[in-house]
Amino acid sequence: MSNEFRLIDTHTHVASAQFDADRADILVRAAEAGVARIIEIGYNLETSRAAVALAESHPQIYAVVGVQPNHAHEAPENWNDQLRALAAHPKVVGIGEIGMDYYWKVAPPDLQERLFRDQLTLARELGMPVVIHCREAQDDTLRILDDAARHQPGVMHSFSGDWAFAQACLDIGFMLSFSGPLTFSKATELHEVARLAPLEMLLTETDSPYLSPHPQRGKRNEPARVRLVAECLAALRGLPLDVVAHQVWRNAERIFHLT
Ligand code: NI
Repeated sequence: MSNEFRLIDTHTHVASAQFDADRADILVRAAEAGVARIIEIGYNLETSRAAVALAESHPQIYAVVGVQPNHAHEAPENWNDQLRALAAHPKVVGIGEIGMDYYWKVAPPDLQERLFRDQLTLARELGMPVVIHCREAQDDTLRILDDAARHQPGVMHSFSGDWAFAQACLDIGFMLSFSGPLTFSKATELHEVARLAPLEMLLTETDSPYLSPHPQRGKRNEPARVRLVAECLAALRGLPLDVVAHQVWRNAERIFHLT
């Protein structure tokens, strides 16, 4: 089956061990579902390196490298130099995932904030967009972005929050990326955001292996299911899937400078 549109999964962790047994099958299923591009995201130096390796061996895969807040305390002293070296690879299209997390709070907030700010600076120096992880830390994430990343290109990954938070993120200039929870019938706040936000500021992702959409909720997620997210977004906007897919594709090209 050939699709008259192309989908993009802007946030995956396909290099993770959970895909070791069937990674090739997963990528075939993604292609069959119309997912023509995948952005693999690192969350520490090791997974960032793995993301680059995966991107190197697959033309449709790009990499984003960074230290996620739950790994801030494990980062070696020279993490910034190592990250900068990884970011020089031609398939690396952004810095992430970075941000703040008060749900797990495995790293102290001041350390999270220091690495977050340092990576925002690094991205700015490199002229790269940032991919933001924000979990139960909306106020501090906004405060830091407003202070340090206004008009810097960025994405709120797996956006979660109400329309007021969405507006604040859009006001800073950040795109909103929807994942599986958009498809949950009780996610009324997310549905409102999906209806009201400018279409040219929206992206789709799976965050595989996490956050599997309805009706596959609770299972190991995979990039092919970004189609369920895109279909849900199209339905909420009252637009055909191909129109939404085309705009999201262009949005991703614009922010990640994909060629
Ligand atoms: Ni992630």
